Order: sequence, then C-alpha cells, then structure tokens
Amino acid sequence: MNDLLLRACRGEAVPHTPVWIMRQAGRYLPAYRALRKRYTMLEALRDPDLAAAITLLPLETFDLDAAIVFSDILPPLIGMGLDLTFVPGVGPRLEEPLRTTKGIDRLRVPPAVEAMPETLETIRRVKPILRVPLIGFAGAPFTLASYAIEGGASRTYSRTKALMYSEPAAWDRLLTKLTTVVADLLKEQVKAGADCVQVFDSWAGALGPADYVRFVQPYSRMLIAQLPAPVIHFSTGTGSYLNAVACAGGDVIGVDWRVALDDARKAVKRPVMGNLDPVTLLAPWRELKAHIDDVLQRAEATGHIFNLGHGILPETPVENVRRLVDYVHTATSQA
Ligand code: CP3
Repeated sequence: MNDLLLRACRGEAVPHTPVWIMRQAGRYLPAYRALRKRYTMLEALRDPDLAAAITLLPLETFDLDAAIVFSDILPPLIGMGLDLTFVPGVGPRLEEPLRTTKGIDRLRVPPAVEAMPETLETIRRVKPILRVPLIGFAGAPFTLASYAIEGGASRTYSRTKALMYSEPAAWDRLLTKLTTVVADLLKEQVKAGADCVQVFDSWAGALGPADYVRFVQPYSRMLIAQLPAPVIHFSTGTGSYLNAVACAGGDVIGVDWRVALDDARKAVKRPVMGNLDPVTLLAPWRELKAHIDDVLQRAEATGHIFNLGHGILPETPVENVRRLVDYVHTATSQA
C-alpha cells in the first residue's frame, strides 16, 4: 500500500513527493469523454459501477499517489430541495436559485445515507481495489451557498454578498444547514472508506479578509473540527489571507498558483498542497518543466503534496500529465 499522501498530510518524510491532480477523472481523458456521451453527469455519479470505473480511470493511465471519488460538490443541494442540472458546455445550473429567507427556512437537512448513497457506495466499491489512499470530498459551506444563491457561476457574487450583508440571521441559518449536511456527508465518506477528505472552498476568494473571517471562517471551522480523518482545506484567490483560511482548520492547506508556495507555507505553518497553474500543462515541455521545478524548489521536501492550483483543463494533452507525474516522482526521489 502506497500511503505517501497520508504521510505528507502529517508532515512526515516521504521517499518522493506524492502527486495527484484535481479533476483527474475528467474530460481531458478520452475514455471519460466516451463514457459521458452515453450518460449525463448526474447519471454517471448516481451509478456506483460507473462512478467506480471513472474513479479508477486516471489510476490506470498514470502513476498517481491518490484516488479521488468521482462525484461533484453540488448534488448535495438536490437533497436539500434545490433543483440542479449540468448543462452541457455551460456547467451546473439551478432553475430556481435560493433568493428568499423563506427558501432558506424550507431547505431540508437530509442525512448523506439518504441524499448521497451512490457516492458512499462508490467509495465502498473502489476502496478494496486501490493501492493508494482514497480522497473523499465536499464543497465548503460558503462555496455551496454561493452556488445555491447565484444559480450558477458568478463574476461578482453580488446576490450572495447582498444576502450576507442584509440578512445576517438568514445567512447564519443557511450556512449552519450547509455545515450540517456537509459534515455528515464527509463523516459518512470516511466510514465508507475514504482515507482523507478535501473541503473545496473554490470561491472563498470572492471575499475580502475581514468578510472571510466574519461570514465564512466560523462555519468552515465548525465543519473541519468534526471530521475524523486528515483534511485538505482548499481554496482559490485567498493568497493574501491564507492565515485566516488555515485558522479555520485543515491538516493541509491547498493553494492556487496566484501565491508562491514558500510564502503559503510560511503563512499557514503546516503542510501545503499545490500549486502548478493548470494552463502550464498546455505549454511546451521546457516551459512546463520550469514551472514544475519552481513549485518543487519553493516546497519543502516534507509536507508537500504536488497538485495543480485548480482543476485540470479539458484541453490538456494526456501525455503532458504522464510526464508531469513521472517527473515529480523522479525529481523528488530520495536516493
Ligand atoms: O477531482 C476529481 O476528479 C473528482 C471529481 C470532481 C468533480 N467536480 C467532477 C466533475 C470534483 C472534486 C469536483 C469539484 C467541484 N465541482 C468544484 C470544486 C473544485 C473547483 O474546480 O473549483 C466545483 C466548483 C464544482 C462544480 C462544477 N462541476 C462545475 C463548475 C462544473 C462545470 C465546469 C467544469 O469545470 O467542468 C462541474 C462539472 C464537473 N464536475 C465535471 C467533472 C468531471 C465535468 C462534467 C462533464 O462535462 O463531464
């Protein structure tokens, strides 16, 4: 069993730096694209056989040090009573976004065994086959709230911020409900066999540091404090207040490429994950290699999980992923 990822989470010495890739089971893989022609995103993640096969796809192709269960951060919103569709070529959409305090009070808080049983079953199926750690995941309360309120991606997050500022009590009720749902989901993922979990706060960077501390940090802290396995706390755009993100918790802090990894390490004083710009995988090898070298040079030999700073792009050449994974292993191998 290769447990380098778990050792890196604890800041222990490792024979080489572990590497995995956010969205590793995704559209840059021809086999994934072929499967997705026959099933919608929701069909795929609600079918444990299919989701298990997709989880394993990247591990059959690359020498990765971790698997991440194939699912998504948004389907838990369906169990809470919101509609969600994945519109091809556009992304996830809510027909009726959350826009009223009444809507917030109507939201259900179902247990994960009822609302997300297929993802738990996917974990049970892949766990016995794997020879690397299995990562479970969920969206952080803030990122889920902003998706529920905006109804899709947003440039300004104005409706989310408007609710936060104008109805602070309703904001508290909403984030508390989301925290309950996500905490239960992650605990059940660990029970089902996940070795560690990642909390995705992909949109936390929409806020300034003071608003992060006031409107987001308390809920992320409440969530992370309950989790019974190592936690990777990932966010983007938060480079100038990573200390506040780290303050909410997480054994490992995942960072994007907008911050230098050595600065991140100093700010959070614990293991870090990241942070290659995903777009460099579209560049010629000499440029890609230079960027990988820069990440590795800024990282410490211990307490680093190599990853991209955000999800891999669909147009990424498969061959570049193979080269990246193998190069990180060789370059960091302790003789
Ligand atoms: O990392 C993995 O391979 C595990 C699976 C995984 C998916 N989504 C599958 C997926 C994970 C960890 C996620 C997380 C996720 N989903 C986040 C947080 C990370 C991030 O990128 O910020 C967010 C914000 C979402 C919501 C979401 N799901 C969006 C915005 C989109 C559409 C745009 C995009 O980047 O693809 C999705 C769809 C989605 N989730 C796909 C996959 C493989 C593509 C679906 C397809 O077209 O086949």
